[in-house]
Parts: sequence; C-alpha cells; structure tokens
Amino acid sequence: MKTLLRIDCSARTVGSHSRILADYFEKKWKLVNPGGTIIYRDLAKQQLPHIQNDTIEGFYTPLEYLSLEGKKATALSDELIQELKSADDILISSPLYNLNIPSNLKAYLDQVVRIGHTFNTNEKGYYGLLEDKSAYLATAKGGQYKGTFMEPYDFQEPYLKAILRHMGIKVRGLFSLEGTSDKGVLEQNKYLAQQSIDRSFKKQNHESN
Ligand SMILES: Cc1cc2nc3c(=O)[nH]c(=O)nc-3n(C[C@H](O)[C@H](O)[C@H](O)COP(=O)(O)O)c2cc1C
Repeated sequence: MKTLLRIDCSARTVGSHSRILADYFEKKWKLVNPGGTIIYRDLAKQQLPHIQNDTIEGFYTPLEYLSLEGKKATALSDELIQELKSADDILISSPLYNLNIPSNLKAYLDQVVRIGHTFNTNEKGYYGLLEDKSAYLATAKGGQYKGTFMEPYDFQEPYLKAILRHMGIKVRGLFSLEGTSDKGVLEQNKYLAQQSIDRSFKKQNHESN
C-alpha cells in the first residue's frame, strides 16, 4: 500500500489554482491506489519556523555530541524528515511568487534538506538518499513563461526539480498551469494541465502492467 505526502503552500486557501490542480492529481492517485494513505502538510495553515543558528549547528553535530538544546533545535527537522521518508510519492503544489517558490515552501525545504539524512557527500560530490521516492509538481503562475522571453525568469520549476534531485527524489510529473491571471487562457490551460495528469497516470498504469 502506497503513501502520498501532499504539500500545499499557496497562501490562498480558497480558489487557489495550484491546490485545485493538486486536488485533481490526488483524486486520480486515489483511484490508482485504493486503500493508500495520504498525509497532508499545509504550509499556509501551519507555518514552519525558518532554520536558526542552533538548527544549523545541530545539523552539523554528530548525534552522540548533540546537546539537549541541539536536539530541541533539530526536533522539527527530524519530524519532517521522518514524514518525508514515510512517503512513496510526494505531491507538491506551488504558486509562483516573485519568480520563485513561496517562502513557506523554502522554509520547509531548509528543514528537510539535511546532510546525513536526505543527502550526503563522498569524493565525487553530493548524492541523494531518497532514491526510492517519486515527486509530482502542480504549479500555478499568473503569467506565461514556457516558450516566451520570460522562461529564464521562472526559478520555481528549475529550483524544485534541482532540490528534489539533490535529495535523490525523481520528479516524475510536472503539471504546470500558466496564465492564471488571464481568464481567456486559464480555462484552456487548466484543461491541458488536467490532461497532462491523466496521461501521467495512464503511463504509470502501462509501466506497471
Ligand atoms: C505575492 C505574489 C507574487 C506573485 N508573483 C508572480 C510572478 O512573479 N509571476 C507570475 O507570473 N505571477 C505571480 N503571481 C501570481 C500567481 O502566480 C498566480 O496568482 C497563481 O495562480 C497563484 O497560485 P494559486 O492560484 O495557487 O494561489 C504572484 C502572486 C502573488 C500573490
């Protein structure tokens, strides 16, 4: 039985396009995984603290030398990493804010991207420790970027892909809804993003048969 960790971060808890797209993905996921478990982490409803001096010291101190303060400072990171490790699939819905991900999602990532826990280093450089997991991204942007002169200014999707890869997590589906501020293109793009989700599940079914 599979577990899906769904992470939402749009500050809009009502009418959010990234959340609605993630709802569509979740509905399809449930059909393919009846009896699967879904863990919800809503970063807008439950704000996570940014990492602090103590947190960073704790991250780089071997467990046997970690003081009580160090343990306290890394307790939230421990909990979030445990939750992440318990999932097979990870669904992240994210709006584009000022050309990047919202800061609440960055605060989450700063808590879980942790040496010795989700990535490590060797003589060749960095390697991820979560290679058994698949990620799916449901993104929403007010403007249009793909194939336009704005594409190099989209730091959301390249960053999410890079940081997940850094932890060894493969991005198996990127469902992007662009132009949410233009009613004229929104409906068409919504339909295309949903079709892209449908195709992704068809492909998974095909691969598992
Ligand atoms: C604080 C803020 C910053 C935004 N920055 C951008 C931006 O840089 N580029 C863009 O295309 N849209 C931007 N938008 C528009 C959002 O990407 C768009 O409304 C999107 O649909 C938000 O996702 P949501 O519907 O899931 O809340 C911004 C919106 C907000 C609230």
